[in-house]
Amino acid sequence: MKEQLEKIYQDALNDLAKASDMADIETIRGKYLSRKGEFNEIKKNLKNLSDDDKRIIGSLANEITQKLESELKSKYDEFYKKELNEKLLQERIDITLPGKYTPQGKIHPLTSTTNEITSIFQSLGFSVVPDSCSPEVDTEYYNFDSLNVPKDHPARDVQDTFYTKIAENVVLRSQTSNAQIHVMENQKPPIRIIAPGRVYRNENINARKNNFFHQIEGLYVDKNITFGDLKGVLNEFIRIYFGSSRPTRFRNSFFPFTEPSAEVDVQCIMCEGKGCRTCSGTGWLEVLGCGMVDPNVLKTVGIDSDVYTGFAFGMGVERLAMLKYAVDDIRLFFNNDDRFLKQF
Ligand code: DAH
Repeated sequence: MKEQLEKIYQDALNDLAKASDMADIETIRGKYLSRKGEFNEIKKNLKNLSDDDKRIIGSLANEITQKLESELKSKYDEFYKKELNEKLLQERIDITLPGKYTPQGKIHPLTSTTNEITSIFQSLGFSVVPDSCSPEVDTEYYNFDSLNVPKDHPARDVQDTFYTKIAENVVLRSQTSNAQIHVMENQKPPIRIIAPGRVYRNENINARKNNFFHQIEGLYVDKNITFGDLKGVLNEFIRIYFGSSRPTRFRNSFFPFTEPSAEVDVQCIMCEGKGCRTCSGTGWLEVLGCGMVDPNVLKTVGIDSDVYTGFAFGMGVERLAMLKYAVDDIRLFFNNDDRFLKQF
């Protein structure tokens, strides 16, 4: 039996010498040291031996299996380390390499200006109309007729307005004022809304004009609305948007859909009112048009102008952004130059 034990041990060592990875070690362990392994088979026969032999062979068997166990363990550890090192080498990261540059996107200055203006008016109790009440492609009726613009008004000329081929009377709106009519057709007073959106004009493009731009329309219709309310709301808006130290003035003007009409100027931000090229020497910059809603407009949408009055206003988003951020060319907003956009 002693020879038998030694032979099995030798076989195990030979197998071990051929092992090449951790799985091989497990196979060898199963073959020799498991419950059904070769050493256990021998140990089963111990019971047939004399007590003395039982002790001698028994302890020899234990000694050999322990030795084999520790040989297996050290070989296993060796393979484990080897595989780990290979894996580490494979997955090695060069932490000295520079990182990849992924530029972060930003909100476009026209979007953030629109958001800022919108939220100022929201804080004053105005709500934003849904897109369905403010279409970019609309009929002449909404863009002109219903707004009291006479048939022969120069703004209707193809030199100014884009006519589509959808139908003879369908235009790209030239002003967000069309939203006033859509809202008043769908809602009874009190109405207190703003409508931001894009408008189109057949312009020669230059530093101050683009053939599309953005406006924000406002409308407040209720009982007892006065010009004083208009001044209060718009002065408050300008105070918040430009800061309280910027002087403003209301100047008499004319729009077909308001009577009386006014334009609001703020003191020129470039020259502080002294007069410069930006303000054509006047010291003032026009920021919006406004007025009391013409009774004709109210009549058109079936609102009783003896009971209700209202004010309306419209402002250019590009213009307000240019004045606030001292941008001297409107085209900068549209040609997507990263160097410009990054500054906001
Ligand atoms: N729609 C005018 C424009 O595009 C701006 C405007 C002026 C809108 C007076 C108004 C208003 O609502 O009351 O020039």
